[in-house]
Amino acid sequence: MLARLEELRAEGVARAESAEDLGALERVEVEWLGRSGRLTALLREVGKLSAEERPAVGRTANEVKTAISGALAARREVLEQGALASDLSGAGLDPTLPGSPPPVGAAHPVLAVARQLEDLFLSMGFLIADGPEVETEERNFDALNIPSDHPARDAQDTIWLQDEPGRPRLCLRTHTSPVQVRALREHGPPLRVVAPGRVFRQEAQDATHEHTFHQMEGLVVDRGVGVPHMLHAMHTLIEGVFGRPLETRLRPGFFPFVEPGFELDARCPFCKTGCRVCKQSTWIELMPGGLVHPNVLRACDVDPEIYSGFAFGLGLSRIAMLRWGIDDIRWMMSGDLGFLEQFPA
Ligand code: PHE
Repeated sequence: MLARLEELRAEGVARAESAEDLGALERVEVEWLGRSGRLTALLREVGKLSAEERPAVGRTANEVKTAISGALAARREVLEQGALASDLSGAGLDPTLPGSPPPVGAAHPVLAVARQLEDLFLSMGFLIADGPEVETEERNFDALNIPSDHPARDAQDTIWLQDEPGRPRLCLRTHTSPVQVRALREHGPPLRVVAPGRVFRQEAQDATHEHTFHQMEGLVVDRGVGVPHMLHAMHTLIEGVFGRPLETRLRPGFFPFVEPGFELDARCPFCKTGCRVCKQSTWIELMPGGLVHPNVLRACDVDPEIYSGFAFGLGLSRIAMLRWGIDDIRWMMSGDLGFLEQFPA
């Protein structure tokens, strides 16, 4: 038995050392050490030996196993090194060539503006809120003081989900304003919140209208909040986006969920006497806003005798377009890499 073990050792080690490639080495391993390998087969016979013979044979068998495993491992190392070396010295390989850099992504212009404004409002103690793109009719319209027979509904036509009996009617939200309702109902006043997100409208598309675009809602509700607070927030926002304060003007604007309602214009940041962006007027329409309508506060269980607030709705897509001089809103959702690659991270 001992003699047979020694034979196995010699032969196994020799075969391992002469294996020509990793595949051959694998086969040697299976043949000697595998479940039905030669060494394993021999070891099964150890049980038949007498008690005196067993320890010596067992010890030798282990040594043989270690010797063959060692030879296999050493050979594997050599073969692997060789494979690597031949890869590296392969014909046509020039290790001094620069590697191919992985493509690096960048924030979409809308996302870049959203992130910048989120940081700005976070620094002023606002919450960042989020709402679903599929919204209930109640939050998108009714709670915002837009009853179903109100003409303002037509101005924000959208896509409706199929009615399901016993369930609230759902639509693709037409604005981020339903997040006002969600945030007020969830947190109650006092509250400062901005909510960026994607909104949808059923409309004919052109350079300034798209069925899908982005807004950012702002809402502050507290005791004694008025128009000056709203203006302060808007001016801070403008300075954040354009890097400097711009002269502004307020025009009356109608939205059922604010009273009074305004449209804020700013002096065109690109010219003094009129240009393509401001359509020669030197003013650009920036954002609507106003004081939260008492009916909205009531719909959110907030007492309008105690609390008041302001809200504004910023067109993120529009701001990004202004900021980078993008002339057609349809670029924004186009997914066109030639367009997007112009906005490095
Ligand atoms: N939700 C309005 C819109 O999308 C914008 C708005 C928001 C107006 C907040 C006033 C206050 O047209």
